Amino acid sequence: MPLDDCRVIELPKMSDPRGNLSFVESDSQVPFAIQRVYYVYDVPGGTDRGGHAHKNLHQLIIAMSGSFDITLDDGKDKKKFHLARSYYGLYICPMIWRTMDNFSSGSVLMVLASTKYAEDDYYRNYDAFMNARLVK
Ligand code: TYD
Repeated sequence: MPLDDCRVIELPKMSDPRGNLSFVESDSQVPFAIQRVYYVYDVPGGTDRGGHAHKNLHQLIIAMSGSFDITLDDGKDKKKFHLARSYYGLYICPMIWRTMDNFSSGSVLMVLASTKYAEDDYYRNYDAFMNARLVK
């Protein structure tokens, strides 16, 4: 199932008394080439984000600061992840419905994505997503 392909990836961490350093390279720490980076910040307490799936997009989500929960749903099973460290990334493959919530104050959610933004890559309607899943 696609949900089994989604996983937490531990990123390299250069531990240093001056401050730690982690990195992500295309096709190395992530199983795709990175074409876009975006980030979500200043999230008011109690807010939900996400609520959509992507047809072809691969993503790695990292909590650059603070913490939040991500629930993944492949139309059959659901899995919840808590991200709280910037040396872990959650890899999300295509055709997974995701929601994010429980954002801590000051948290920053960064996404590395395999393509540039394209609204026609989204399923924003859960029933349409489920229908597409049944066809596949
Ligand atoms: P959306 O993906 O729905 O955010 P989230 O999943 O975090 O709730 O995007 C929110 C808005 O931002 C939507 O109008 C599309 C726009 N957007 C871009 O213009 N470019 C981007 O790279 C992204 C991710 C979103």
